Amino acid sequence: MKFFLDTASISEIREAAALGLLDGVTTNPSLVAKEKKDFRKLLVEICEVCDGPVSAEVVETTCDGMVREGRELAKIAENITVKVPLIKEGIKACKILRAEGTKVNVTLCFSPNQALIAAKAGATFISPFIGRLDDISTDGMQLIRDIRTIYDNYNFPTEILVASIRHPLHVVEAAKIGADVATMPFKVFDQMLAHPLTDSGLKKFLDDWKAQHGK
Ligand code: E4P
Repeated sequence: MKFFLDTASISEIREAAALGLLDGVTTNPSLVAKEKKDFRKLLVEICEVCDGPVSAEVVETTCDGMVREGRELAKIAENITVKVPLIKEGIKACKILRAEGTKVNVTLCFSPNQALIAAKAGATFISPFIGRLDDISTDGMQLIRDIRTIYDNYNFPTEILVASIRHPLHVVEAAKIGADVATMPFKVFDQMLAHPLTDSGLKKFLDDWKAQHGK
């Protein structure tokens, strides 16, 4: 499973990259707005730290607008993946950008049919938002199971990029289903590694060692 960081914060991206576990980054207009930086410059900076796919989302809503914007974004760095919303115009834009060789992440997916359509349009990644489904009392993880089954039935190469992850168990469940990518906030990345028994176990080992050998 690939680990992507769902952030536009360069310090968080640097910290995850330093661990050697960062496979990519996803951003969205809300995450970018929080950084209060020029979008282009921010993307250049992110792509300097992360050489895996970096999703940059369009804000146009027509096919022509998205294609125009997507082409500009794709010029920023080789690893830019253009992110388009799962609406009719986005699907049309996805087909065009894919035909030009640009990687496309189709975002805001909330149903298996939407995921099927994105795969047929040649999406590189599909982003189902599981946390937002959980928020409205709908099982987000069931969507991942459904998409996995559908994509496997037809050998679609589109990668399932599990998005809107809220806690480490989301990652565990997505990995058990065989999702290709988990994109997560930095906090979840950190939480995945931590375990109180690891901390207390290490403390005991070191205390016992010191008691025998001194400092
Ligand atoms: C994914 O690409 C999105 O940026 C993100 O996962 C949305 O997460 P949220 O529902 O926590 O905003």
